[in-house]
Amino acid sequence: MAVGIVPLRREEQHLNLVPKSDIRFRQTNSYDGNAIKRLYHADNIDVLNALTFDADVCGKVILIYIDPPYNTGGAFETRDFKHAYNDCFTIQNYLSFMRERLELMHRLLSDEGSIYVHLDSNMVFHIKLMMDEIFGMANFKGMITRKKCKSKNFTRKTYGNISDYILFYSKTDNPIWNRPYEEWSDEKVLKEYPYIEEQTHRRYKKVPIHAPGIRKGATGEVWRGMMPPEGKHWQFTPDKLDEMDAKGEIYWSANGNPRRKVYYDRSNGVPVQDIWLDYLDVNNQNTLITGYPTEKNLDMLKRIIETSSRPGDLVLDCFAGSGTTLVAAEELGRQWIGVDIGDEAVLAIKKRFKNGSKPLGDYVKKKAKQQIQLDLFEEEKLGEDNTCLGFVSTCFDFYEEVF
Ligand SMILES: C[S@@+](CC[C@H](N)C(=O)[O-])C[C@H]1O[C@@H](n2cnc3c(N)ncnc32)[C@H](O)[C@@H]1O
Repeated sequence: MAVGIVPLRREEQHLNLVPKSDIRFRQTNSYDGNAIKRLYHADNIDVLNALTFDADVCGKVILIYIDPPYNTGGAFETRDFKHAYNDCFTIQNYLSFMRERLELMHRLLSDEGSIYVHLDSNMVFHIKLMMDEIFGMANFKGMITRKKCKSKNFTRKTYGNISDYILFYSKTDNPIWNRPYEEWSDEKVLKEYPYIEEQTHRRYKKVPIHAPGIRKGATGEVWRGMMPPEGKHWQFTPDKLDEMDAKGEIYWSANGNPRRKVYYDRSNGVPVQDIWLDYLDVNNQNTLITGYPTEKNLDMLKRIIETSSRPGDLVLDCFAGSGTTLVAAEELGRQWIGVDIGDEAVLAIKKRFKNGSKPLGDYVKKKAKQQIQLDLFEEEKLGEDNTCLGFVSTCFDFYEEVF
């Protein structure tokens, strides 16, 4: 990726802490010297706390995406067999770990902001209740079910678990929302828009010109000698319906029933629904990855960022991992703040910004040579009593590592 690096800042005076590393990245095109692009190598509780005192950030974050530990009870390694992070809490510890961070995130969000929390079935329901409390039930916008991988051939007596979940909340009832659309497939177009207008050859479908609701004002009046059916009103005023009819946009059936023509060429696409099937994490040997475990699909992050922020807005991921959110934000011209406590995560992010990612196949060859199984996560559970948090951040010693 084409980014240059400006010198490391020695300290964050206003944050009153010296992160292990705080690196600023510079966009090659239209770089705004004041843009916030920060990576903290630290425990996010300290950074989030500090950011609540940062006037450039607090109340200005438009989008938070987090993919925190899921409390799988396992430990994660990179594809190079380095320890990445532990994911082993008691439920109580996990909940207080999440609560104190989510409360701070709530404070950092702008009134136009949204938060997406990516989890699996282990903790999603616990965290849903917690988020209802912190963000308000009225601000729950939905739960996205994502297909995360191809089908599994489980030997266990249960269904293959191929999905995870993203809880989506806004701070208020006025979040940034750029409705996402998917392209129509040829098959769907034929099904949804089956008619072709003779004169123009435009493809269209027919829909009623009335809708359920109370009749009041012009939309409840007679049009062409007809009243809307019982309990319904016209979708448009009679004047507007006349105008549409004059343009040939009303279809009249043989028995004089009017219907509105909705043209395919006016459609923005299929509005995206809350089941996402196209964002598998690793698809094939050519998929570009960083080698950091639990790396998420870059296109999925781009969809979230494009939907819930505008160019120039500030995006925060305080469980940044391999930096998928940060890269997506960078590529989409957003400002960003990333935080991760892990050495391997920060290394992966730096490498990714400098050199991009490598095909999965490169790691598979290595795996064959070393005869080590990489997909140990499901099997490798730590004991019940092992309540390790594993993320002991002793100090924020600063180190200068320029690639
Ligand atoms: C599931 S991974 C995130 C993966 C990321 N979404 C990606 O695409 O690569 C969770 C990350 O949270 C980090 N983490 C866990 N506890 C943390 C803490 N207290 N402060 C900062 N980072 C933390 C871990 O080091 C790990 O990299």
